[in-house]
Amino acid sequence: MKLNDKNILLGVCGGIAAYKIPLLIRLLKKQGANVRVVVTRAATRFVTELTLSTLSQEPVCQDIFPDGSSTDEWTRHIAIGEWADAYVIAPATANTIAKLAAGICDDMLSASFITLRPNKPKLLFPAMDGEMFESASVQRNLSWLSEQGCIVVNPESGQLASGQCGTGRMPEPETITDVIEQAVTITQNDSVLRGKSVVITAGPTREKIDDVRFISNYSSGKMGFALAKAAAAKGAEVTLITGPVHLHTPEGVTRLNVESSEEMQNAVREHHTSCDIFIGAAAVADYRPVEAISGKFRKEHETMEISLVKNPDILAGFSEQKKAHQLAIGFSLETAGNLDHAKAKLKQKKLDLIAYNTFDGKTSGFEVDTNMLTLIDNSLSIQELPLLSKQKAAEKMLDAIEKLLNSSK
Ligand SMILES: Cc1cc2nc3c(=O)[nH]c(=O)nc-3n(C[C@H](O)[C@H](O)[C@H](O)COP(=O)(O)O)c2cc1C
Repeated sequence: MKLNDKNILLGVCGGIAAYKIPLLIRLLKKQGANVRVVVTRAATRFVTELTLSTLSQEPVCQDIFPDGSSTDEWTRHIAIGEWADAYVIAPATANTIAKLAAGICDDMLSASFITLRPNKPKLLFPAMDGEMFESASVQRNLSWLSEQGCIVVNPESGQLASGQCGTGRMPEPETITDVIEQAVTITQNDSVLRGKSVVITAGPTREKIDDVRFISNYSSGKMGFALAKAAAAKGAEVTLITGPVHLHTPEGVTRLNVESSEEMQNAVREHHTSCDIFIGAAAVADYRPVEAISGKFRKEHETMEISLVKNPDILAGFSEQKKAHQLAIGFSLETAGNLDHAKAKLKQKKLDLIAYNTFDGKTSGFEVDTNMLTLIDNSLSIQELPLLSKQKAAEKMLDAIEKLLNSSK
């Protein structure tokens, strides 16, 4: 349980997305968190205090002024800010965002925003109509709050409550829970990866045959994205260079989209000197057409020949020029190979760690959510991992990288 015994203060404002909050509370509780809810007056028009308090198993606060005679109620707006390990405001309305940016604290939600201890993460999930979100005042207030260290998680695009399409939808409770977990973990860990620059490639590349066709592979990018998420959770500054995939960018990760192996290589080169760790998790196409045909190749002949030329090895290219403090990490995906092949690759490409990745097309390899890895480091010590979720496997790989960094200190 990633949020075991963590105190999450959840501020709910008067937006239509408040209907997702009961589910969010359930997910947070499932992760072991203690949840206390503060609501604005408007929020209670969208979701009842009874539902929120029943699910959180705590009374819901709204007013600063105590209604009972209990002495601990008098300074509750301060105590609640001190209690929290993270303050999550979801949905954050345009109105409350403006109040927070201005420092107004006329209700429990806005007052406890100011009393939260400075080293604790504040997360805002703005949700509103697309035009409202794009408005100059909302954008100005959000960028000011972000400059002050708040984590502003931009809304998603899609159909809005108004029936129109636009950017303004609050992410689903699962995504919000993920972001909270990361924020709480990042502020607590003292990993050797904290502040390190980690560059990760992910996904497939596309090599153009003509303007409408390409050569590619089945890589989904899931392993690379899981590594990016795990590295960011350990406090690393992560740049994720990805081929075309349909995945949500992990929080705190800088994403660069590329298409061909050549574009991927150029993007990696730009980070070559500045990065501390390079992880080549992309399934870079081994070959590309010698020359892409301009326009659309017409279906006039029974057969067609495409001459292919080998693509440069991006990982080996990085390794070749890496400085003593830099680490190069790679994968060896095998359908019929063995550990010896992975060991040879580790040596030949001068890698610091290689993940030998068995491929059975069902539980391990491309597209699926699980993976079976064997980690081999530069001293040829071997760590066999069982079948794990790609996220868990990524975390284990990051642990092994931390070990390498610690041993080279
Ligand atoms: C049906 C309805 C839906 C609303 N949805 C949103 C919304 O999604 N986001 C938002 O910023 N305001 C929304 N509003 C406006 C807010 O409720 C209003 O600005 C209110 O003053 C916000 O108060 P609060 O920030 O104290 O919660 C909505 C209003 C209504 C009537």
